[in-house]
Amino acid sequence: MSSENVKVLIGVIGGSGLYHLDNLTFVKHVNPETPWGYPSSPITIAALPSGTLVAFVARHGQGHTIAPSAVPARANIAALKSLGVRAILAFSAVGSLREDIPPGTFALPSQIIDRTKGVRPASFFEGTSVVAHAAFGDPFSLKLVKWLEGPIRRALADEGRGVQLVTDKCIVCMEGPQFSTRAESLMYRQWGGDLINMSVLPEAKLAREAEISYALVATATDYDSWRPHEGAVTAAEVFKTLQANADTSRHVAATILEELHAAALEGDILTEEAGSMQFSIMPRS
Ligand code: ADE
Repeated sequence: MSSENVKVLIGVIGGSGLYHLDNLTFVKHVNPETPWGYPSSPITIAALPSGTLVAFVARHGQGHTIAPSAVPARANIAALKSLGVRAILAFSAVGSLREDIPPGTFALPSQIIDRTKGVRPASFFEGTSVVAHAAFGDPFSLKLVKWLEGPIRRALADEGRGVQLVTDKCIVCMEGPQFSTRAESLMYRQWGGDLINMSVLPEAKLAREAEISYALVATATDYDSWRPHEGAVTAAEVFKTLQANADTSRHVAATILEELHAAALEGDILTEEAGSMQFSIMPRS
């Protein structure tokens, strides 16, 4: 796995509509081959105004050619790790399962319900003789999520479009590519789901196995299919909000990355998950 001698501490994963970041100076593209293949797209290494490097990967490929179930999540996380990345800020378009999370809202979820049905390879240990059980009760890195709340709120206020941030939400990750039925959408609400997407898993699980701090910025595009007198979600509806959400995501990233890097160097955001796998590997008898 060649990291081409680049060292980058912070990685950004872009979801639907977010294929590049703003206000960065392009440095180079790298495309590390990992034991799990190549990442979704060549990784862009770019410099913040201070010269600090960040790494950006488009989860669905540069031209959105990779369906959620086919995203090479192990290669994406392994490639970022090979560059030295220790904290990942991931963006994803999501559906809303709650009236008070209208399309256009940004969210920092704190919990996940897994409905990916085991179709996606979800562990670096799969196919090896090592049995590992990562702790995943808190699937997002709590210190990173907590830190993000203030700077994201300020970035949204400063953008001036009235975009709201909600926190402490539960996201359902479904298999797709079809959207949920109305019955499923209602069931997810009863289960306590607030948001729904097709991408946060296995990404979050793999980041944990790689001991990388990970947080998701979920950007709501639609009300999914639970509202009785409204049409069920369609791709066309998702596309309506996608561009505005991506513009705001770029503004958020451009505003907070420098501050995140500085805070990470001072505090323990980057080391939050370091060593977390130490007691996760089953001893051989
Ligand atoms: N991504 C955006 N909207 C979605 C929805 N309603 N269901 C699943 N994934 C989504």
